[in-house]
Amino acid sequence: MTVLGIETSCDETAAAISRDGVILASVVSSQGIHSRYGGVVPEVASREHERFLTRVVQASLNRSGITLEDLDGIAATRGPGLMGALLTGVSFAQGLARGTGVICLGIDHIEAHIFANFIAYPDLEFPFLCLLVSGGHTQIWRVDGLGRYDLLGETRDDAAGEAFDKGARILGLGFPGGPVIERAARGGNEDAVDFPQAFLTSNAIEFSFSGLKTSLLNYVKKLESPPKGDSLSDVAASYQKAIVSVLVSKLKQAVERTGIQVAVIAGGVAANEQLRILARNVLTDCAVLYPPAPLCTDNGAMVAFLGERYLEESPGEMPLDLTVVPNLRLSG
Ligand code: KG4
Ligand code: ZN
Repeated sequence: MTVLGIETSCDETAAAISRDGVILASVVSSQGIHSRYGGVVPEVASREHERFLTRVVQASLNRSGITLEDLDGIAATRGPGLMGALLTGVSFAQGLARGTGVICLGIDHIEAHIFANFIAYPDLEFPFLCLLVSGGHTQIWRVDGLGRYDLLGETRDDAAGEAFDKGARILGLGFPGGPVIERAARGGNEDAVDFPQAFLTSNAIEFSFSGLKTSLLNYVKKLESPPKGDSLSDVAASYQKAIVSVLVSKLKQAVERTGIQVAVIAGGVAANEQLRILARNVLTDCAVLYPPAPLCTDNGAMVAFLGERYLEESPGEMPLDLTVVPNLRLSG
């Protein structure tokens, strides 16, 4: 089967083609324009999606060497995400599906992030645990099958990606925060500043990152001038450590509680090298998997792949609802 996937939930305009579980082409156009505002501006995001969607979809078809007539389905992210941004992608997909006479599927962005791991690891088997870490979500899922998910815990306030983004803004490093903090942290002493790690010692699988951000703000305010050079590296490394340590420690708790020996990491923050290294170092009795970075951050491949999976494996369960839901909650 051949499925076109369209992703426009936030600031990436993306399209990809999945055929028989293999990604033939994946095209991502990142909206760099938001960096000048220090964060994603919803209206600007919708306008940029409108500008680039046709080109991105066309490029994914061209690079795959296929035409619209070869498609069996078109899948588009219907939530969670920004209302206007989601609407742009879903309306585009619906129009294209109507014109070509193929089925149109509404995909849950979080579910697609989880399933990106199957693109990288086709032999991945259920059940497994998933640490889902993105700009809007920080959750640990037990995944028992397609459509069978159990939420083991999540953040009470900010998401891990949000903590990176807000931290970068406080340090004057730009947007998105994850990659710039990761870069600034290289060579820094991660024990230089003792930032708080909420719930680290509690038995509950939950997260909180808003105190961490405030702690960084207070730390920077006390300095005579913003940190630069080695001291910036030290602060960035300590801040990064405070985020990734608590993520890994809660994932370890989930492994111990469930006895499941395979843990995958998904979402934009899963691109973080320190998170990847620490997870493998700490979870020694467990296989720790993560997709290559372009499959962690938002992309159309995960949407196309999951759409095809529904079409093939579970046609009765196909997500045919195309209503856009900005705060869509994945459930099993
Ligand atoms: O999954 P994603 O691309 O979009 C959402 O669904 O939110 O995740 C975006 C988030 C941003 O907060 C960004 O700062 C973070 O992922 N991120 C990273 C890295 N690359 C992206 N965080 C830490 N380290 C990275 N290398
Ligand atoms: Zn995402």
